[in-house]
Amino acid sequence: MCVLEELSATWRRGGPPRLLTISHRPPKPTVPAVLASGIDGHTPLDLLAHWIDQCHRHRGIVNTQRDLGVDAVAVSGEIDGQHIGYAMDRNGLEYVVRGQRHGPERRCTSGTDVAARTRLPVLLTERLAELVWRLAGPPPPAAGSRIRDMWPAAGLIDLDEDELHERYALPAHHEGYVRLVTVSSIDGLAAVDGSSAALTSSGDQRVYRLIKRDADLLLLGAGTVRAEQYGQTALSAPEIARRRANGLPPYPAVAVVTRSLDLDLGGPLFHRSIGGHRQPPPILIVPAAAAADHGTAVADVADLLVAGDQEVNLNQALQTLRQRGHRRIVCEGGPSLAGQLAQADLLDEICMTITPQLLAVAGPRITAGPAGQPAGGQWQLHRSLLDEQGNLFLRYTRSGPSDRQVG
Ligand SMILES: NC(=O)c1ccc[n+]([C@@H]2O[C@H](COP(=O)([O-])OP(=O)(O)OC[C@H]3O[C@@H](n4cnc5c(N)ncnc54)[C@H](OP(=O)(O)O)[C@@H]3O)[C@@H](O)[C@H]2O)c1
Repeated sequence: MCVLEELSATWRRGGPPRLLTISHRPPKPTVPAVLASGIDGHTPLDLLAHWIDQCHRHRGIVNTQRDLGVDAVAVSGEIDGQHIGYAMDRNGLEYVVRGQRHGPERRCTSGTDVAARTRLPVLLTERLAELVWRLAGPPPPAAGSRIRDMWPAAGLIDLDEDELHERYALPAHHEGYVRLVTVSSIDGLAAVDGSSAALTSSGDQRVYRLIKRDADLLLLGAGTVRAEQYGQTALSAPEIARRRANGLPPYPAVAVVTRSLDLDLGGPLFHRSIGGHRQPPPILIVPAAAAADHGTAVADVADLLVAGDQEVNLNQALQTLRQRGHRRIVCEGGPSLAGQLAQADLLDEICMTITPQLLAVAGPRITAGPAGQPAGGQWQLHRSLLDEQGNLFLRYTRSGPSDRQVG
């Protein structure tokens, strides 16, 4: 089977890949495992919908396949008079074979975003991604990013993606919740040579992606966008399927706080397509003074949100974002924005990574608020985790009531 050959050729995890095929035909000896619906004439979309429904109804199907250690799921059938075999592995890599069922004319393609390039229906990708996530389970962690529990209970086994996600689960009442995600060195530095790139790691990126999975909006200061050439990274199809199942769009929206509007309008922040998904334009949060002077070029590529007169009033900006339906906000910094949010008592949670580096040079801390009264409020450690490289992940939440009224 061509999909299996293609899958085997690109498989990098040792041992042959275990492929689960969804089909209405009886099992073939070359195919390791088959879930057959038993009714001929189903389209691939029907077959996937049928098995998603079965997974919802019968937990045992999911458990059995996870115990068998499925690496990839494939569906086969007819689309537009052509035979297709379409597989996806746990990392979201796709494999498509198109052609005549028994003839020599067959084309194999693999990679990410293959279904879109080969003009398969978007719904087919979304359904296959959901089944991959349910039946094959989460992908194995990248090298160096195995993570265990530290506190409240020390864990002896590595957490898989779903267990790790559960450690960062949002509280039941999270309407308008604001999480700050940061990374710093042992001595509290948030950037080296003007960027946080040297502080991050595969474990930090793993946790960051999981937190982002629950976000409907990412909030940043313009300094971070300029320093990091900021743009969203592509999510895998199974990650997007999980977001959809959570009632979220494929990618979070992005909002940037700026006074100067000094942003590269051709930069990654303004790219409207990520991994084949069309994104809404970024929201630029500006004070009225900046909105009055902006040129039409900005208005063409961004959505302007005005809050405050000379400076952005962050309280007002967050209220407006909530009124627009953004209820799960992740703030990615930087220090100036994070400092003001802390001073204004607008943060609900801090997810920080401490990397095992002692840098002993001058540089910003994770907050750089205005001089004056220190931020008030008590914080409590909600959870801590540790990765195999010694990165410490701390999750702090508010202890006791905050004065803030969440709208
Ligand atoms: N370690 C980490 O977790 C982490 C995370 C993020 C960033 N960083 C690092 O932090 C550094 C950037 O720090 P930063 O403090 O300059 O970044 P920042 O907070 O991202 O951006 C500051 C900018 O945001 C705008 N801004 C902030 N508050 C405003 C307000 N009330 N009204 C209007 N505009 C406002 C201004 O933009 P305009 O200048 O456009 O007016 C200001 O210059 C970079 O080196 C980055 O790599 C580290």
